Amino acid sequence: MHLFLVGAGHVGLVTAVGFAKLGHRVTVADIDAARIEGLRGGIPPVFEPGLEAAIRAYAGQRRLDFTTDLRPPPEASVSIVAVSTPTGRDGPLSTANVEAAVRALLDAVGPEHTIVVRSTLPVDGPARLLALAAGWAATGERPAIVTNPEFMREGSAIADFETPNRIVAGWLEPRDHAAAEAVLALYEGLHAPTMIADARSVALIKLASNVFLAAKVAYANELARICDVVGADVDTVAAGIGMDTRIGRAFLNAGPGYGGSCLPEQAVALSLVTAARGVPTPLIDAVSHSNEVHQRAIVRRLGELLDGERGLAALAGRRIALLGLAFKANTDDVRESPALSLARYLREAGARVVGTDPRAIEKALRADPELETADSVAEAIAGADAVLVATEWRDYAELDWGALARSMAGDLVYDTRDIVVAEQVREAGLRFASLGRG
Ligand SMILES: NC(=O)c1ccc[n+]([C@@H]2O[C@H](COP(=O)([O-])OP(=O)(O)OC[C@H]3O[C@@H](n4cnc5c(N)ncnc54)[C@H](O)[C@@H]3O)[C@@H](O)[C@H]2O)c1
Repeated sequence: MHLFLVGAGHVGLVTAVGFAKLGHRVTVADIDAARIEGLRGGIPPVFEPGLEAAIRAYAGQRRLDFTTDLRPPPEASVSIVAVSTPTGRDGPLSTANVEAAVRALLDAVGPEHTIVVRSTLPVDGPARLLALAAGWAATGERPAIVTNPEFMREGSAIADFETPNRIVAGWLEPRDHAAAEAVLALYEGLHAPTMIADARSVALIKLASNVFLAAKVAYANELARICDVVGADVDTVAAGIGMDTRIGRAFLNAGPGYGGSCLPEQAVALSLVTAARGVPTPLIDAVSHSNEVHQRAIVRRLGELLDGERGLAALAGRRIALLGLAFKANTDDVRESPALSLARYLREAGARVVGTDPRAIEKALRADPELETADSVAEAIAGADAVLVATEWRDYAELDWGALARSMAGDLVYDTRDIVVAEQVREAGLRFASLGRG
């Protein structure tokens, strides 16, 4: 089938190559002409393992092409909207871009067309989509509108598309049910449980799944800080808890806090929605708070490790090398990156922060123009009083600490990701601390 996909971002491009692999032809459109120009030359605007090679391969086979024309080609009977839903004037998960894209499609297509919204919607998103289609009401028919949220994780997004935990489609009105079934059929070839439900419930499935995952991370982080105080090991504790199949091991990973474009925004979005409707949800509300408390606690702990007596005050005037700026490894995405929050809190405490990252420096500087960066780990670490590891890049497991130690002014390495090899750091004569691991 020929699919039209609006939004050449992380989700849009992964979805496009995923459908191309399943045998569909996909035309990808975006309002950003520079993105489309780059994609025509085989260069994706985001880093995702395997994405560039897949784009080049499917474009070469004419199964994938790129355009700035936001009207679907006549052969396409299904359009997929995967545009961004950033925090806007109306709060997190703004539907302004989704509504603009859907409105443009509704103006361009006939009643036999299906519009699939893959972007993450707030709970009132489906109602807003229905309102957009009101102009069609007089004719008694309208294009079908179906929601189909994406559950991928950046860094393993292509594999996540190919082996999803579930594929969910939401209908706006019962008349969209058949179109929802047709949307699930687009995924034929993948083995995953499927579900069709009303779009409100589907929006909540997406948001509530992410907030639950955020809560799991926040829980592991609180446990890590408890472990530091009582002398236990957070990985052992998480492994033991995770053996209970009612809980599971996944996402019980201590680190510098959750980040990215999904979890932080959606945790806030869900608690704002419940507050606005007078539904008390103290558990959901606490998730974002826990994440911030944790990141501030990491900064305080770094101060204590530098000088136990002075704590946070010990950071004033110190040079801190921050290894990793992306919100996780294998992506150049810095949206809501915990590394950038740590950099901010460190600066608030008077430290001088020099950050580095194998992929994300450019985007980090755009997100935080005050950030000082270095192109290499060696450059970031030279003259540093302490090293703070914030992203789990494999490169950081393979550093030559002997050479790095000689260029440091201080002797402390604090790893929040359990990626650095402790023995190598200690053999280099440095002090080593790992979050939740002693
Ligand atoms: N990134 C993730 O890990 C992830 C995972 C699951 C779901 N999501 C959701 O998927 C959606 C897309 O996220 P993303 O990370 O791919 O965003 P992104 O910022 O990487 O890309 C969004 C793209 O949409 C384009 N765009 C914006 N408005 C447009 C319009 N009116 N017409 C055409 N193009 C337009 C932008 O130019 C950009 O290229 C969001 O709702 C997000 O919450 C993201």
